[in-house]
Amino acid sequence: MSNFQTEDGRITGRVAGGAAPRHVAIIMDGNGRWAERLGQPRTFGHHRGVDRVREIIRAAPDLGVGILTLFAFSTENWRRPHYEVSVLMRLFKRYIIREVEDLDHERVRVRFIGEREGLPGDLQRVMAQMEERTRGNDRLLLQIALNYGSRKELVRAARHLAAEAAAGRLAPGEIGEDEFAGALYTAGVPDPDLVIRTSGEQRISNFLLWQAAYAEYAFVEECWPEFTPELFAAVLDRFANRERRFGAIAVDGAAGG
Ligand code: IPE
Ligand code: IPE
Ligand code: MG
Repeated sequence: MSNFQTEDGRITGRVAGGAAPRHVAIIMDGNGRWAERLGQPRTFGHHRGVDRVREIIRAAPDLGVGILTLFAFSTENWRRPHYEVSVLMRLFKRYIIREVEDLDHERVRVRFIGEREGLPGDLQRVMAQMEERTRGNDRLLLQIALNYGSRKELVRAARHLAAEAAAGRLAPGEIGEDEFAGALYTAGVPDPDLVIRTSGEQRISNFLLWQAAYAEYAFVEECWPEFTPELFAAVLDRFANRERRFGAIAVDGAAGG
C-alpha cells in the first residue's frame, strides 16, 4: 500500500476512482482483547489505542475525509470496573491536554458529543477549552463521542421538542425530520456515509442510531490498536466501490434518485 504513502509517512490520494466518504464514524473496539492476547492488562490496549487515534486523525483529511466521528466512551461503559473507567477518564484528559496544540495547528475542529454532565469536572473543563481553541478550524471536523449513547440522545431530543411544543413555540405538526435532527448532539453535521467497527464485532452498540440510518457499514477483524492508516485507506477504498441506493434503484450503474 506504499504507493499512496508519501515520504513523511502521510497517506495521500485515492487508490482507485470513486468518492471518499465525507463523514466517517468509527467504533473503536477491541483494545482490551488485543492487550489480553499479549498477556497485558486491558488498560495497555487503551494506551496503544490512543496512538492509533492520533494517526487516524492525521491521515483522515489526506484521504478526503472531512468529518470524523470517534466513539470513545459509551453511556454503557460505566458498567466496567471502576479502575478501568478511571484510567480511561485520565487518559481522555491527558490526550486532550497533549494534543490540543497539534490539532489546532493541523486545523482540526474538535466537537464533543454525548452527555457532559456525567463526566468528571476537570475533564469537562479541558473539553470545553479544546472546543473553544479549535472552533475556527476547517480542515477536519472531529467529533469525539464521550459518554455518548444514541437512545439517551434521542430521548433528550424528544424532551426538548416536547418542551418547545408545551411552551407554545412549536406546533407538534411542525416537528419533522429536520427539526428532530436539529435537536440531536450532531445538529448541523451531515450524516455519516460510512461506519467502521474494529475487532470483528458486528453490532452498533447504541451508536448514531438516527444518523447512520443510510450509512454503509464496514466490520474489520483487526482490533483498534492494530488499525493503521494503511488499513483505514484500504477500508475507504472498498467503500468507494459500493453503490448507495437510498431506497431507489440503480441507474446506469450509479445510484438513482
Ligand atoms: C474499546 O475497546 C474502547 C472502549 C470501549 C473504551 P474495549 O475496551 O471495548 O475492548 P474489548 O472490546 O473489551 O476488547
Ligand atoms: C462500543 O464498544 C463503545 C465504544 C467503542 C466506546 P463496547 O465494547 O462498549 O461495546 P459492546 O459492549 O461490546 O457492545
Ligand atoms: Mg469492546
